[in-house]
Amino acid sequence: MTYKTALKHDIFETISQSADELQLDCYVIGGFVRDYLLERGDAKDIDVVAIGSGIDLAQQVSKNLPTNPKVQVFKTYGTAMLRYNDIEVEFVGARKESYNEDSRNPVVENGTLQDDQNRRDFTINALALSLNTSNFGELLDPFNGIEDLDRGIIRTPLDPNITYSDDPLRMMRAIRFATQLNFKIEENSLRAITANKDRIKIITKERIVTELNKILGSDKPSIGFKLLEKTGLLDYILPELTALKGIDEVEGQRHKDNFYHTLEVVDNICETTDNLWLRWAALLHDIGKAPTKKFHKKIGWTFHAHEFVGSKMVYKLFKRLKMPLNDKMKFVQKMVFMSSRPIVLASEVTDSAVRRLVFDAGEHVDDLMTLCEADITTKNPKKFKKYHNNFKLVRDKIVEVEERDRVRNFQPPVSGEEIMKAFNLKPSKEIGIIKEAIKEAILEGEIPNEHEAAFELMLKKGKNLGLTIEN
Ligand code: CTP
Repeated sequence: MTYKTALKHDIFETISQSADELQLDCYVIGGFVRDYLLERGDAKDIDVVAIGSGIDLAQQVSKNLPTNPKVQVFKTYGTAMLRYNDIEVEFVGARKESYNEDSRNPVVENGTLQDDQNRRDFTINALALSLNTSNFGELLDPFNGIEDLDRGIIRTPLDPNITYSDDPLRMMRAIRFATQLNFKIEENSLRAITANKDRIKIITKERIVTELNKILGSDKPSIGFKLLEKTGLLDYILPELTALKGIDEVEGQRHKDNFYHTLEVVDNICETTDNLWLRWAALLHDIGKAPTKKFHKKIGWTFHAHEFVGSKMVYKLFKRLKMPLNDKMKFVQKMVFMSSRPIVLASEVTDSAVRRLVFDAGEHVDDLMTLCEADITTKNPKKFKKYHNNFKLVRDKIVEVEERDRVRNFQPPVSGEEIMKAFNLKPSKEIGIIKEAIKEAILEGEIPNEHEAAFELMLKKGKNLGLTIEN
């Protein structure tokens, strides 16, 4: 079978010509071929395997390209990379390799195409198209990866215990591909992941997070998180989530399984947003529930202050996973901290409660509403409809209140300096008291968010505090 149409880009012709000049064989392999066959759009990353030196081939290709791009060489791995327009090509010499027990670093020997295919992660990633003039575009598929692509199966070329133990990151890659492509992991493979799960410890946190982000970036992340849980990997990576599993019952009172609830919320939010950090917020919004869970004879199960506890846990979790501790982390913390706020509004929508919500959530109020809407997982259709309708009212009211009161990025209508001038004050606690009173009056709807009304209130409050007006 030949797939010349996959190789229309002029880079392939240049690679083919360069390989001829060096008298070596080469193939495009991996994600590019897989995604072409799955019609997943034009891949911008191309992996080329050379039967010989990948570095020499990259240099020859660069010479032959009109732009003569710079070749980046990674000597330790025997690979080289170049960029041509918007395409990134990585060249590697075919390898026969085994991995060091304690790390991912391979011990490398030169090999044939088949050796190279043997050591790849999955049959669907071992598909190769020839770039040689004699059989340009021919598919080389020793493990019947085409059939696995058709049937939606993730399978390793070798015994899965070997493939996963060679590079334990592949256990996460299997789950990530199963999630992105909605494929099934073949049974032996799934068993091998469970058996080898502890080996994930040798993988850097950064690479684990890259896979987690890809799972969260897919249409239905619950597929991946259920597999991570089932294989035991989740316990190592995100124990905060596995701690949410299970339903307790005391005196006939049960709470919901917060793990499966969380996964529903994540799937829901993925229908409305591509924002990765909002997706993270959905994943973590209930993590404070495990450490705060209590049973009270009179009121049943409570998770008192779980939003606060959860937001603190977000920091620790991001730190442990070496994720950014910047404004993205703060955003996730804020969403977790505020995640129950709009819920009270679901039953009664008042102007002042909406103003307070907008004031506290600031620029993130829409994201917070998106999170809370995703959080509605009730199976009671009447309640489902009622909560959604009320949130719709809240959203309308947010717009209305915002137009009138502009509290989203609240600027006090009377400044501290103005207060100091009016009462001839030096910096003092009275200024704070007056400013707070003005803010409260605006949020409560007692005065409009306007200078004149605020100034009047300032004079009144100052008088109450025993201050005298400067003329
Ligand atoms: N590969 C592997 N084992 C890994 C990583 C990669 O065998 N741990 C091989 C696979 O053949 C893979 C190729 O290297 O197809 C390229 O890897 P990479 O660019 O990381 O992934 P892609 O398959 O291209 O997919 P994606 O771009 O979605 O990550």
